[in-house]
Amino acid sequence: MPLRINPRIASLEPFLAMEVMERAFEMEREGVDVVHLEVGEPGVPPPAEAVEACSRALVEGETRYTDSRGLAELREAVAAEHARRSGTAVDPDRVLVTSGTSPAMLLVFALLVEPGDQVVIGTPHYPCYPNFVRFCGGEPVLVPTGPGDDWQLDPAAVRAAVGPRTRAIVVASPANPTGAVQERATLEEIAALDVPLLSDEIYQGLTYDGAEATSALALGDDVFVLDGFSKRYAMTGFRLGYAVVPRAALRPLQVMQQNLFISANRFVQHAGVAALRHGGPMVQKLRDVLDERRRRIVPALRELGFGIPRAPRGAFYVFADARPFGEDSRALAFDVLERARVACTPGVDFGAAGEGFLRFSYATTAEALEEALARLGRALPAPS
Ligand SMILES: Cc1ncc(COP(=O)(O)O)c(C=O)c1O
Repeated sequence: MPLRINPRIASLEPFLAMEVMERAFEMEREGVDVVHLEVGEPGVPPPAEAVEACSRALVEGETRYTDSRGLAELREAVAAEHARRSGTAVDPDRVLVTSGTSPAMLLVFALLVEPGDQVVIGTPHYPCYPNFVRFCGGEPVLVPTGPGDDWQLDPAAVRAAVGPRTRAIVVASPANPTGAVQERATLEEIAALDVPLLSDEIYQGLTYDGAEATSALALGDDVFVLDGFSKRYAMTGFRLGYAVVPRAALRPLQVMQQNLFISANRFVQHAGVAALRHGGPMVQKLRDVLDERRRRIVPALRELGFGIPRAPRGAFYVFADARPFGEDSRALAFDVLERARVACTPGVDFGAAGEGFLRFSYATTAEALEEALARLGRALPAPS
């Protein structure tokens, strides 16, 4: 019997950063040494207190389900952190803890989007946003941004993209892949459009050159903040995230969580509490190290011939115009992987607006970065 794949699933695009990484792993199994600049994974350990809290919790038998919304301690710590960031009171009853930011995103899109609905997303964009929308039967409506104006969203273009079926507007500041930090006035204008705002704040805290990322909770109560521990605290494999949502949304999200996931891992939630309580200095140090790498990689890539009109001011990526080396970013990224043994992500992973670009993650060691730059210098032709 031929297996029928739900067309909604068949329409999802592969996550190219993962595909490059998986090919790089294959090469490594064959004995090839690859420098990884493709995935968004800080090359530093998580806060020691988080590791310690997690192992202690495991040893002490903290191995059962938790309340589907998360441990009260963690929800309180998350609320306190976001109150600090936004300068407004945040009720722990608005927090839903999930196994990573990705499940929080899935739950929130599922809450808001039904077949035929639209979601407005700035592009280039994190690849999973439109895939989640399509997964729910909805239609992503993409609003282009460009390198010339530092990948800033134009509020008028966002307004023009909003129609009667728009159920949400997605913003991410700092953004993946561009590193763009949106101006507060831009976000204020978008928040005033009377459409729920989904604010992905997973890179907040990682900003440079005096840029300040605006917490959406400072803009009003009808916002959905998506965040987690993967980036700031280098806790990707812990799988821990959360959403802070409007009060009326918590109960239906809780019901979805009960049915789909039951709860996030109990012992991992203890790591989250410890990260929030003790991880501040680690985040500050990570930010400083990332800033050093950023100051090294941006001029070095420019010298190699990549186009980077303005240095990114947030996250840990450089989204570089690679058209001097080839128009097809997917072919170019795999070619760079084979010839230079440097893994980077094709720009087209982030939508058609990213075609011709390559994304380099600089969240790596100084040595790995130097090696990658040397290899690129040897393998890339002089730009045409
Ligand atoms: C913008 C953005 N949001 C969400 C995620 C997913 O994070 P998590 O590991 O918490 O699921 C990523 C991961 O790369 C990301 O770049």
